[in-house]
Amino acid sequence: MAEFSLPKNSQIQKGRHWPAQGAKQARTFKVYRWNPDDGMNPRVDTYEVDMATCGPMVLDALIKIKNEIDPTLTFRRSCREGICGSCAMNIDGTNTLACTKAIEDCSAGEVPIYPLPHMPVVKDLVPDLTHFYAQYASIKPWLRTQSPTPSDRERLQAPEDRKKLDGLYECILCACCSTSCPSYWWNGDRYLGPAILLQAYRWIVDSRDEDTGARLDDLEDPFKLYRCHTIMNCARTCPKGLNPAQAIGEIKKLMLARRA
Ligand code: SF4
Ligand code: SF4
Ligand code: FES
Repeated sequence: MAEFSLPKNSQIQKGRHWPAQGAKQARTFKVYRWNPDDGMNPRVDTYEVDMATCGPMVLDALIKIKNEIDPTLTFRRSCREGICGSCAMNIDGTNTLACTKAIEDCSAGEVPIYPLPHMPVVKDLVPDLTHFYAQYASIKPWLRTQSPTPSDRERLQAPEDRKKLDGLYECILCACCSTSCPSYWWNGDRYLGPAILLQAYRWIVDSRDEDTGARLDDLEDPFKLYRCHTIMNCARTCPKGLNPAQAIGEIKKLMLARRA
């Protein structure tokens, strides 16, 4: 899948080359660099990493580069097990999580590593997700109820209703899908994009939520929902194996059903 697209501040130049000293099994990583404070154009630095002393994942290589070769390299990470979503980046041409992407699964030769495409860059591999999170907040992603809270127990949910959240609750908001979506690239200011729409659907189908009508009203907009053209990049790239396009389709069906 060719979903690579340059970040928003791109006039990319050739950067520094860091050879691996005395490496037995060197692997080369070409990493996007940009520092807002040095007044320079973005560049791509080349790092050779000795695989004999490196863990198996791309994040292991980035940590090794930062710890042992170039401490100025900047990237996000936290959990190292595909749960927090913070290490999302474009690796070997695909948006994915650096901590779950095995180096041996990258194409042969140099491994290109860029920030998530079409997002403003804070520094190096760190995208600015401010707008993405504001869009998430806009769908009010919490249980909205009108009935009184039961005093003696939680709000219960039948097993078959709970099952409707499978394939939705697992979303870690990594933004891999939204930043692979051409509609989001061009209309991300108003189109909510696959991640946020999947999250919106997660609350729409939750049997305990009592604000479904208002949630659908909020999405009834020529841009927020209807910019999805079923291109399916989102489902192809999701590192958690989720299908945001399907969730978007379910929202559209609910919109049609209430117009009938
Ligand atoms: S749907 Fe998948 S790719 Fe999109 S934000 Fe959630 S986990 Fe990430
Ligand atoms: S299916 Fe919709 S949301 Fe997914 S990539 Fe295509 S246009 Fe974007
Ligand atoms: S470090 Fe948390 S998902 Fe990769």
